[in-house]
Amino acid sequence: MKLSCAPSLDKREPADLIVLPFWQDASEGTHFKKIVGSAISSGDFKGKLGEGALFYLEKEKEPRLLLLGLGEKEKSMPESLRRAFSNAVKTAQGKKAKSVNIILPELKTLSKPELAQAVFEGILLTNYAFISLKGDSLKENPVVLLEKISFIGLDKKDLASLDEVETIARGVYLVRELVNGNADDVTPKMLADTAKSFEKTSPKIKTTIFDKKKLEQEGFGLILAVSRASSADPYLIQVSYKGAHRSKEHIVLVGKGVTYDTGGLSLKPTDNMLTMKCDMSGAATVLGAVQTAAALGLKVNVTALVPTVENAIGSRSYKLGDVYKSYSGKTVEINNTDAEGRLILADALSFAAKNLKPTCMIDIASLTGAAVVALGEELSALFANDESLSKDLLAASEKTGELIWRLPLHPGYKESLKSEIGDLINTSGRDAGSMKAALFLQEFTANVPWAHIDFAGPCYLTKPKYYNPVKGTGYGLRLFIDFLKKRSV
Ligand code: BES
Ligand code: MN
Ligand code: ZN
Repeated sequence: MKLSCAPSLDKREPADLIVLPFWQDASEGTHFKKIVGSAISSGDFKGKLGEGALFYLEKEKEPRLLLLGLGEKEKSMPESLRRAFSNAVKTAQGKKAKSVNIILPELKTLSKPELAQAVFEGILLTNYAFISLKGDSLKENPVVLLEKISFIGLDKKDLASLDEVETIARGVYLVRELVNGNADDVTPKMLADTAKSFEKTSPKIKTTIFDKKKLEQEGFGLILAVSRASSADPYLIQVSYKGAHRSKEHIVLVGKGVTYDTGGLSLKPTDNMLTMKCDMSGAATVLGAVQTAAALGLKVNVTALVPTVENAIGSRSYKLGDVYKSYSGKTVEINNTDAEGRLILADALSFAAKNLKPTCMIDIASLTGAAVVALGEELSALFANDESLSKDLLAASEKTGELIWRLPLHPGYKESLKSEIGDLINTSGRDAGSMKAALFLQEFTANVPWAHIDFAGPCYLTKPKYYNPVKGTGYGLRLFIDFLKKRSV
């Protein structure tokens, strides 16, 4: 994105569109009064969040002006600014505008740079299209994205603070590309290759890949079981970024990397399978987060750990009723091969606890349909055995607008996960489904401070919302970056 600023309206350069923000029911005067005055005084335009009115200009530096509703000034937060400016991008895209001038709104509770950051974040998150699988229709209907933004009223020295926003947005785009890509292309091997390629982007990144042979030698019985029916080999990917050499803190982010989830022998109904390329969203999020942390040069030690498999169906499928031995040594009886995420995560969590000296572990996974039933597509479920971890994640969520809601890890339900012929059973009934999945994972955390985020809803949307596109959203990346910043030395 080409970024610039102008100290005042009369110093601005020409553009395809100018955005004039307006607080709900604002009484103070506005720029371009002759043009927008009667829309406001008539009461037609109130300035509500989500409202916008387009005007055509003559003899100005732009042919169009968008009067943009910002909502109530008193209630205004970074999130409402992100949402308001996502509407501006949608209008610009509708007119195939490539350059916009933006008049920065005023707000006492946020500094100018903070305000510009929120606006820019909303713009960049919206200014994305997944086009790599389009064919001829792209020639007939080319996607036009914004290329140039000028902020009117921003100081030149504050422009630098926007670089960081762009680096983070690139991380979000990477996650979206990986999630939206064909499951036939985004295979466990492809995720491993992607992780390996991060080494080239920073000397502080080290990637270690365990292939199938190594997984067999080391006894990753659950990862191997889930992957058995697939022609694609499983991998355990470890990407470590060491940004704080003297610090003992080591944060391990574990992401579910099921590149396609058919359910296995507990085969999913066809409609439920439709979205199952999304099942590696956790993997994409943690890989993107570590790469972004390195790109930002955060002073933190963080590792992305990704168990990755395809949960296919075939003659070599792992079987219901059979018992498999996990990396930790605990054995697991399978009564549903569609509860595969918790199995591969279990092996990864116990590997991390045993070998990586983590000071905390956070896993993120599209783990249960029950989380979508409970919280829908806008919120994820959070489970944690540690108060400070939970507190910091909730605080990060508040800041980034990636909503999470904490649910309990009720010990009374642990009983139901006991197996008669093995140590544990992988599912037990539909009730408290997300919590039982979390309780299962907890068995493999070896009492390390741990949190689990079930983002089956927010990782992949059925329709676009605010600055999130349809399908892969990249939800969670900004949350992790904010969390990592807080834990930086
Ligand atoms: N990947 C699914 C969960 C999922 C569902 C993600 C909907 C995104 C949208 C997971 O592997 C799964 O199949 N979970 C089962 C668990 C059940 C068998 C206990 C589910 O939720 O039905
Ligand atoms: Mn499944
Ligand atoms: Zn799954």
